[in-house]
Amino acid sequence: MKKKLTFLGIETSCDETAASVVQENTDGTAKVLSNIVSSQIEEHREFGGVVPEIAARSHIEKIDLIIDEALKKSNTKIKDLDGIAATAGPGLIVCLTVGYNVGKSLAAFSKKPFLPINHLEGHALSASIENKISFPYLLLLISGGHSQYLIVKGINDYIQIGTTIDDAVGEAFDKTAKILSLGYPGGPEVEKIAKLGKKDSFNLPKPIIHRGGCNLSLAGLKTAVLRKSKEIDLKKEKYNLAASFQNTINQILIEKSKVAMKIFIEKTKISDQLPKNFVVAGGVAANESIRQDLISLSKKMNFNILFPSKQYCGDNGAMIAWAGIKRYKEKNPLLYNKDMPVKSRWALDEKAPFMKGPGLKI
Ligand code: KG4
Ligand code: ZN
Repeated sequence: MKKKLTFLGIETSCDETAASVVQENTDGTAKVLSNIVSSQIEEHREFGGVVPEIAARSHIEKIDLIIDEALKKSNTKIKDLDGIAATAGPGLIVCLTVGYNVGKSLAAFSKKPFLPINHLEGHALSASIENKISFPYLLLLISGGHSQYLIVKGINDYIQIGTTIDDAVGEAFDKTAKILSLGYPGGPEVEKIAKLGKKDSFNLPKPIIHRGGCNLSLAGLKTAVLRKSKEIDLKKEKYNLAASFQNTINQILIEKSKVAMKIFIEKTKISDQLPKNFVVAGGVAANESIRQDLISLSKKMNFNILFPSKQYCGDNGAMIAWAGIKRYKEKNPLLYNKDMPVKSRWALDEKAPFMKGPGLKI
């Protein structure tokens, strides 16, 4: 019987210190033997966002303990591992460096393969930890730093068909939370209070909704929330404003996902017999209201929708270990150059046009 690969995954790209041990299953999915995530929410709360130096110091303090715990909980010794994977970008350099260097040193001392992983690839493959998914599939990646539609053709084979031209969806949630004086991170807080309000209380803008393909723009929505918040009795109306914001985001994602599905069919020329899979991943994919609306859309559009379970939506080490296993199985050393430096920017589709800044025409 072929040996099932077991990897340690390390993630320190932003404000979560995470490590996980993952073993592949024979059916293309994975068994997560441990998944330890230590969030720095408390450390950053008073600043309302991530402070890079505080985040890096906290990663340094915790990383050994978190890796130890992941190994212990999974009943794995370093010598039993087939490889070590660590996030190499995109993210905050001072943070990435911590997990990356620890992973690389552990691998060197134990003479194991070391795989630098693109954090976005971790999210892109996260739904396949628990689901058998065949390529190609349409991916909506919605997190705090990124919002993109991609065609996932295979490992290291991505076509970006849409992206945000300003704020990411998670960023819009976080900024709205700040305006409404809710906690950090904002997404779960906005979702919670949005349930208590009326979704059609305020008419908020949906920038570039009928143009720009499946590109997104959310800066105008954030500004409109800020303006509205100053016109109303915020204490009384914050539930309604949160509900209207959540509803506007949902409407934008429904409309843009519809466009992305059409582009996916056109570009892949996928036959009617093959399943058309739509994966929604990243921190914001934990949002139940967005999930429900995209499930309805997928039914209408004849797409099979898949989400990672909520523990694998936000940043975690399991998705990094899993991406490491998937890359290693490609048996192409070019896919894991252990000497690559950490990178603050690292697109999944390096040929995609840069879609931010003045002069952009869409
Ligand atoms: O993927 P992630 O953990 O980190 C990045 O790679 O950015 O995503 C974090 C983002 C934050 O903006 C957070 O507010 C948002 O995901 N988020 C949510 C929810 N849970 C997390 N947004 C909306 N609803 C949620 N339930
Ligand atoms: Zn992430």
